[in-house]
Order: sequence, then C-alpha cells, then structure tokens
Amino acid sequence: MGPIGVFDSGYGGLTVLQDIKKQLPEYDFLYLGDNARAPYGTRSFDVVYEFTLEAVKELFNRGCELIILACNTASAKALRNIQQNDLQNISLDKRVLGVIRPSTEIIGNLTESNSVGILATEGTVSSNSYVIEVNKFSPETTIHQQACPMWVPLIESNKHTTHAGQEFIKEDVDNLLSKDSNIDVIVLGCTHYPIIKEYIQSIVPAKVKVISQGNIVAERLVDYLKRHPEIESKCSKGGQMNFLTTESTEEFDANASQYIGNAISSTHIKLP
Ligand code: DGL
Repeated sequence: MGPIGVFDSGYGGLTVLQDIKKQLPEYDFLYLGDNARAPYGTRSFDVVYEFTLEAVKELFNRGCELIILACNTASAKALRNIQQNDLQNISLDKRVLGVIRPSTEIIGNLTESNSVGILATEGTVSSNSYVIEVNKFSPETTIHQQACPMWVPLIESNKHTTHAGQEFIKEDVDNLLSKDSNIDVIVLGCTHYPIIKEYIQSIVPAKVKVISQGNIVAERLVDYLKRHPEIESKCSKGGQMNFLTTESTEEFDANASQYIGNAISSTHIKLP
C-alpha cells in the first residue's frame, strides 16, 4: 500500500492535486515538483521523457502504486512510452495516468459552436495531442491551439500578476481568439494555468467559457478507482499529503501554500 503519486514539472500540478483531494479526501498523496528543472514546456521530447521517467521511478521507489502525471507536457511527451515500454520492466502491477485523455474525452460536450481553443506549452501544442485525441471522441470539434511559452516561467517566478506579465498573457489569449471568432470554450491545457484562470476569464468575451482540468481529472480518477479495485486496494488511506521538490524547500513551501491553501513543509530530493 502507498500514496497516490502526483507529478508535475513545478507548481502546476498542485492545482490538480487540490481538486483530487476534494473528491478523494481519505487517500494519501505524495506530490513531486521538479522545480529545479522546470519549465519542461520548451524541452525536447527525449528530455521530457527522461525527466518524467526519473520522477516516476522515484515515486514508485517511495511506495506509490498509482501515479498521475499532473502535467500536460509530460502526459503529451512521456506517458505513452512509459505505459507501453517502461512499466513492464518496472512492475506489471503499477499504473501511470495522464491529464490529456480525461480532458479530451469531454471537450466535445462543452462546446456549442464546435470551435474550441487550447492554451498550452510549446511542447504540448507541437505534440498535437489535443487535436489527435479530441478527433477520436468528437470529430466534429475543431481545435485551435496557442502556445504560451512565457506563462510557466511567469507563474514559477510569481510574476504573473505584474503589469508586464499580464500583457504577455493577454497577447497570447488575443492570438488564440483571432484564429476563430466562434471559439466558445478555452481549455487551459497546462496545469499551471488555473492560477491565472480568473484573469483570462476577465479578458475574453462573455460567451467564452474558460475550463481548467483539475475537476475533470479528479472525476475521472474517482471513476478509475471504482473500475480498478485491484489498484484502489493498494492506495493507502490516511488523509496525508506530502510534498517533494528538487528545488529549495523554503521557496517551494512559500509558493505552494498559496495554491494548496494551507502551510506545507516539503522535502528536498535529487533526481535521478
Ligand atoms: N504544468 C505543466 C503542464 O501542464 C507545465 C509544463 C512546463 O513545465 O512547462 O504542461
């Protein structure tokens, strides 16, 4: 038995953890933020895969039986390889899930105009994962993508509320909306972005719904645990949340507590 592992390049996955925790409060969670090597969004496929695999192995070594990659970039560039090639060498009983599939399964139900915008990192956009996956579930929906390379660095360095930071954000949102005036849903395809969701909602037309993934991922996880009692029974239930970071713990604790809503005390680790 072990905690459910939640991994992100940095703070973004905390937005997902928070929503998962609300729906599954009785479970234990172990969060790992690779803050020292964030952002992942502009890194190559090979590097994101290598870093993500190191993180997954670390969480497995610390007792996790189930890991959520709460990072779109890692889900887009590393998940399939890990599921199809690495898990069989590590353990046939452990599982790794991502955040793109749960989101793309329901995107078609959210739009009336069948025109959806995705804001994401360069890595996620260039992987084309959203376009490919949405096409499987909802082929009538057109996906318009906008890469936002500055957003994760802005959020990681806490500069997203400055005037200059907001100008960067607005420029990318305007670029996305200029692709099609019919866009009525914008999906925040990076787990860092819910931190600026209110600002984004305030600068788009009223008809545009801005959607973050946390609740969607949490609902799918609840469903997954019901459908997989063999995995569920290995997830420990003590209501504990623990945090690991590859950066300084002081910085992580100060920033992370803003997202989690209470004081936390993280542990420093090195990867690999
Ligand atoms: N939260 C990660 C994601 O969802 C950020 C990736 C990055 O580090 O650039 O894509």
